[in-house]
Amino acid sequence: MTMTSRVKLPEWKALTAHYEQIKTQSMQNWFAQDSQRFARFSLNFGDLLFDYSKNRISAETLSLLAQLAYSVDLPAKIEALFSAEPVNNTEQRPALHMALRNPEKTPLWVQEQNVMSWIHDALAKMSAFVEAVRSGSWRGATGKPIRDVVNIGIGGSHLGPLMTTQALAGFSNSQLRFHFISDVDSFALQEVWQQLDAERTLFIISSKSFTTTETMVNAKSCYTWLQDCLKRKNLQAHFVAVTAQIEKARHCNLLPGGIPQEQIFPIWDWVGGRYSVWSAIGLPLALQIGMEGFQAFLEGAYSVDQHFRTAEFKQNIPVIMGLLSVWYVNFFQTPTQAIIPYAYALRNLRAYIQQLDMESNGKRITRQGSEAEYATGPIVWGELGIHGQHAFHQLLHQGTHVVPVDFIVVGQQEAGLDSHQDLLVANALSQARALMCGKQEKDKHKEIPGNRPSSFFFMSRLNPRNLGALLAFYEHKIFVQSVIWDVNPFDQWGVELGKAILPDVLRDLEQEVMAQQHDSSTQNLILHYKNLRSS
Ligand code: F6P
Repeated sequence: MTMTSRVKLPEWKALTAHYEQIKTQSMQNWFAQDSQRFARFSLNFGDLLFDYSKNRISAETLSLLAQLAYSVDLPAKIEALFSAEPVNNTEQRPALHMALRNPEKTPLWVQEQNVMSWIHDALAKMSAFVEAVRSGSWRGATGKPIRDVVNIGIGGSHLGPLMTTQALAGFSNSQLRFHFISDVDSFALQEVWQQLDAERTLFIISSKSFTTTETMVNAKSCYTWLQDCLKRKNLQAHFVAVTAQIEKARHCNLLPGGIPQEQIFPIWDWVGGRYSVWSAIGLPLALQIGMEGFQAFLEGAYSVDQHFRTAEFKQNIPVIMGLLSVWYVNFFQTPTQAIIPYAYALRNLRAYIQQLDMESNGKRITRQGSEAEYATGPIVWGELGIHGQHAFHQLLHQGTHVVPVDFIVVGQQEAGLDSHQDLLVANALSQARALMCGKQEKDKHKEIPGNRPSSFFFMSRLNPRNLGALLAFYEHKIFVQSVIWDVNPFDQWGVELGKAILPDVLRDLEQEVMAQQHDSSTQNLILHYKNLRSS
């Protein structure tokens, strides 16, 4: 079946025409004319307030965007996602991260297997292990309980555990300390090793594929380091694995005898790495806040799944987030999106969402196999707002690029100082207001144009449930965008080429005689490195 390109749809054309009418209109005027604008363009969801009133939209914009969503069958696509249809069309499999947080036991069949029973069995296995480590009954090779937990992983097997354990550090109810090894730069490993008590260290080797070079090399080096520290052979109690490749982990040569089956926690090929924090990839978080806390994290996301599946578009937060992004990327032609949290605990949220968004929608070939005639996934960037406003906010306020901003703000923080919290929140509110209002000045250098869009996520508290909900909002937003753009958000073929080139380059760095198969730039850079190394 041939599909009409998105740009030829009447709904797309209507939005193009609407953009021409609206592009010079001022948000400040809209606020002045409509005392209900905030009420009209904000939604409450549990402990979360989503204020999208400071966006370059009118009621008509939203209605036209919703029509575009209907014209590409968004409701049916959402249903297909939840019904385990092979929405990941290039790999012919479903994307079932929502099943990981579904507390219902109703079977969900994938190739005649009930995956819900696998998920609940895996959670039970995780739960028993979490209890053993936290209670101190899990002992290292010298008989001591665990104190340091080191997650070895990269991409989705790193960013989720890192970001969530930082975000929920205030909810830690154990003596465990968490560390992360992801980079292959040996200084990164040494920095972590210095902080560890070897006898009391547990390494979690997190890799869906169990082949990722960086993770395998780092795991091997950690084993060697531990062996050097403890001068023992049997170190299996110090290593567990999370993977979809159970056999590879069992028979790996990272440590003698591989990883014992009972110390391997399964994930599955229908969970994308960047969507996997809800599975055993989230083990560091479960160890930090306990299984009850982890369940609350899953429940938060599950509540958003229900909302996304059932709420009408006007009330549907991920749908509105996705449509707003399409509005900016395709009509205002803004190529980037800033994620700006005002909570130190969320200092790695930008990195997490960057992978989630850019690895999902950074695609130019549509599901139909043709080249998209429009822009797709934006460049996602950002930083903690307090730092950004003394660095790159200059560009947000006066630069030539319009950058839609997501402000993420927390009302109350665990054990925070009230005066600091007030200052944080006041800064976020001031920045959003400055972006919108700007400032008239005679001196052009001092003038701030304003009318710059932002959305505001106000969480009453940063707890496991609310964090789960926030992340699920972004996951589903990205799905909505992918449907409008007609791209598959669940594959990542673009990352493969660099991995495939690596072995040849590495061989030529290490061997005396080079194979003459590189371009002259790569060839000369290899020679340059070899000269540096030998000088
Ligand atoms: O190279 C990209 C990627 O495949 C990501 O999609 C993934 O999250 C990461 O590498 C880690 O992969 P794995 O969990 O298989 O080690």
